[in-house]
Formats: sequence, C-alpha cells, structure tokens
Amino acid sequence: MEVARRVLTTEPIIEVKGLSAEYGGQLIYDDVTFQVKRGEIFFIAGDSGGGKSTLLRQMIGLQPIARGSIQICEWDIERELGGGASAPKLYHEIGVAFQGGALFGSRTILENVRLPLEQFTPLPAKLMDFVALTKLRLVGLEGAAQKLPAELSGGMQKRAALARALALDPQIVFLDEPSAGLDPLTSAGLDALIKEFNRDLGTTFVVVSHELPSIFALADRVALLAASMHRVVAIDTPEALRDNPRSAWARAFFHRDATAAQAAAIKGPSPTVGTPMKGASA
Ligand SMILES: Nc1ncnc2c1ncn2[C@@H]1O[C@H](COP(=O)(O)OP(=O)(O)OP(=O)(O)O)[C@@H](O)[C@H]1O
Ligand SMILES: [Mg+2]
Repeated sequence: MEVARRVLTTEPIIEVKGLSAEYGGQLIYDDVTFQVKRGEIFFIAGDSGGGKSTLLRQMIGLQPIARGSIQICEWDIERELGGGASAPKLYHEIGVAFQGGALFGSRTILENVRLPLEQFTPLPAKLMDFVALTKLRLVGLEGAAQKLPAELSGGMQKRAALARALALDPQIVFLDEPSAGLDPLTSAGLDALIKEFNRDLGTTFVVVSHELPSIFALADRVALLAASMHRVVAIDTPEALRDNPRSAWARAFFHRDATAAQAAAIKGPSPTVGTPMKGASA
C-alpha cells in the first residue's frame, strides 16, 4: 500500500516583513518578520493579549497594517484586499476559521460550509451541496449537515468551522485557537485532522494556539509573541524553543514558568533566534 508523504518545501508562501500593529495609537507589536513555507504547519503562540489574533487578521486583510508588509503567494495583502484586482483569486487560496468559530447561527451546518462556494465559485447548487457534504464527511460531520450550529457540541462546531475553511480547497488555512475549550481527546482528534489534510493535500496551515500538546504534535515551527515585549521573541521548532539557551522567555513559556517569563521580560528582549526547518526539502 502506498503511504502519502508530506510535501514540505523551502519555498515561502507567506512573507511578513517589519510588521507592526496598533489600536488607537497603542502599540501591540512591532517589527515582526517571518516566512511560512509551502506545506508547513506554522504556529503563532504566546501569552494572552500579545496580538496573535491581530496578526492572523492582518494576514487575511481584516486588520489595518500600521507598518510593514505581508505577501501571500505573489500578492501584497494590503493592496489586494484593499480592493485590488486579484482579491477574488486570493480569497480562493485562503481559508479561515476564527477564534469563536464564527458560524452563522441561523444557517445549517451544510449552508455554512456552502457559503464560500456561493461567494467565490459559479458552481451549480447541487454541486455546491455535494462539495460541502464531502468536506463535512472529511471532518466526520456528514450526519449533522442539517443541524444549526447551536445544536452542535463545541468540538463539532470547531470541526464545522474547519470544514468551511477547507471548502474551496485553499492553499493556506488559517486557524485561530482551533482546540480552545475542547477536552484533550477531542482536541487530539482535531490535531489529527489537521495533520491529515497537511499530509494528504499539502495544505499549508497557520495556527494560532497556545496549547502545548497541539504545538508539539503539529508544529514545524512556532513564532512566539510576548505581550510584555511587544514583539516576536523567537521563531523555531517547538523542541528548540523549549530548550533554547538564548531566549529565557521562550523557555519560560514552554515550561509554564510565569515568574521566569516576567524576569525575562524585565531584563529585555534577547535576539530573535531560529534554526532551519526540520525535515525541509527543496
Ligand atoms: N478591536 C480592538 N480594539 C482595541 N484593542 C484591541 C482590539 N482587538 C484587540 N485589542 C487589543 O490588542 C491586544 C492583542 O489582542 P489579540 O486579541 O490580538 O491578542 P491574542 O494574543 O489573540 O489574545 P488571546 O490569547 O487572549 O486570544 C490586546 O491588548 C487587546 O486588548
Ligand atoms: Mg486571540
């Protein structure tokens, strides 16, 4: 039997350069720079309020960019999603599941998953239903297609949001806290689904999460945003961050040591560190 192999490349599919975010003139983070490689599972982690959701919203064009730039595939996000000619193409290539799931409460699960197809494809109605049902089957929710979101458990809602994010077979899927509030078994099930899509379809994932088990199960690399330092303190594999001798804050985060994190923040930032991706091939 042939076993599907991961397609992990060194080709950047997302490039974030010198990025800042502010709300009402208040700085959230500054000078964030990283690349996500095609086929990678890239995590954005850090303490609450550091700007993880803000960064994700900037990457999908929902949040103004104070300084810096974001490039996805060959497109500049600010230009395209500010009314550029390629916006529809770009929307085709990205799928998103927001922190709260953001399913439409008055629509059935099937209708929710159909939405991106209605917005971005000219498919006939029956074919849209077929595609949406196929995605629901992939996440194990075919039987809940006619239910409303409120009739589903939290874990089922998260899976429905994932099915909707995958509706258009995008190249990149952005997930904000996909397993927050889930029990460890449901959370592990969701991790397995993400791993499967990544391996079988080569989908690139950008996942916002501070769930350490998910990070170690899935992440090729992690960017760590520290609220108190207003910056990405380190980007590396989870194992390297956990054992990193050069970033006290990263070590403190991975060892759940609040006192050490506070001390590291008072001492000030150490240089951003990183090593090449594990398992990368050209
Ligand atoms: N719409 C907004 N208006 C003003 N301030 C905001 C807004 N959204 C977020 N913030 C502030 O920006 C900072 C970063 O928020 P964000 O939601 O991006 O953090 P986060 O890292 O995702 O946190 P969490 O882990 O709790 O989800 C916080 O201090 C928050 O209060
Ligand atoms: Mg958030």
